[in-house]
Amino acid sequence: MDIVIEKLVQVWDDGRDGVRALDGISHHFRSGRLTCLLGPSGCGKSTLVQIVGGIEQATSGLIRITDPNNPTAPAARAGERSIMMWQNLNLFPWRNVIDNVAFGLEMDGVARQQRYSRAKELLATVGLKNFEYKMCSQLSGGMRQRVALARALIMDQPILLMDEPFAALDAQTKIIMQEELTRIFEKMRKTILFVTHAIDEAILIGDEVVVMTARPGRIKEIIAIDLPRPRTQELVNSPEFGRLYDRILHLIRQEVLDAMRQQDEAVA
Ligand SMILES: Nc1ncnc2c1ncn2[C@@H]1O[C@H](COP(=O)(O)OP(=O)(O)OP(=O)(O)O)[C@@H](O)[C@H]1O
Ligand SMILES: [Mg+2]
Repeated sequence: MDIVIEKLVQVWDDGRDGVRALDGISHHFRSGRLTCLLGPSGCGKSTLVQIVGGIEQATSGLIRITDPNNPTAPAARAGERSIMMWQNLNLFPWRNVIDNVAFGLEMDGVARQQRYSRAKELLATVGLKNFEYKMCSQLSGGMRQRVALARALIMDQPILLMDEPFAALDAQTKIIMQEELTRIFEKMRKTILFVTHAIDEAILIGDEVVVMTARPGRIKEIIAIDLPRPRTQELVNSPEFGRLYDRILHLIRQEVLDAMRQQDEAVA
């Protein structure tokens, strides 16, 4: 699905003048591509994915979600064709792995045998074969992350919205999950919006990186990541990767400093 946003503005109510989180953002997120949103804390990344996911309504601006393979079909409502994966995983600790993964299908009234069969396929895809009947509370952080990914994928929506899904993982598990996501993305080719603070993560997994400014969030620059796929962690050592890293670091550095200054002023 293509996602086009035009002049999106979001002003949050803070009981005073309002917080301008997004300041007229326009972009075309192309179907089947993975776009990373990178920007300093508070620049509106989560706000943007929540609006695209239909969880929040923008103050003003347009959002159009259409299927490029079916141009005459009516545009989808925000949230209708997407699934959100949060940093806070929201797994049910009292349920076993398979019932967590199959939860959405259960809510849709899909029969147990059918939903278990699909959940097992996806658990194998995310490398959790034979963990179906463990309780989520028995799993490591990385394993829980895989369960959350399988639970999102089972809904089979064409748009996946991921808000810092790997931020809480340790460095090695994060590398494995980045490779896993890359592999799954290359197979399934969904439209993915992926929020991150990590420049290396954005380059490794993304087709493009949207660099945002400090609040109020605008698009500072869009960097195409034309590195060949399939991608693995070895890419990090290539000169192309290094060049992209330096370019993005240069773009983001000033924005992070500005965001820190804003924070200092807010508490002064
Ligand atoms: N529900 C809300 N009500 C009021 N203000 C909000 C709300 N959500 C976000 N904000 C404010 O909007 C601004 C942007 O927040 P947002 O969470 O989108 O930033 P972010 O880029 O995701 O930051 P981080 O990298 O820290 O997650 C911040 O100033 C935040 O305090
Ligand atoms: Mg956020």
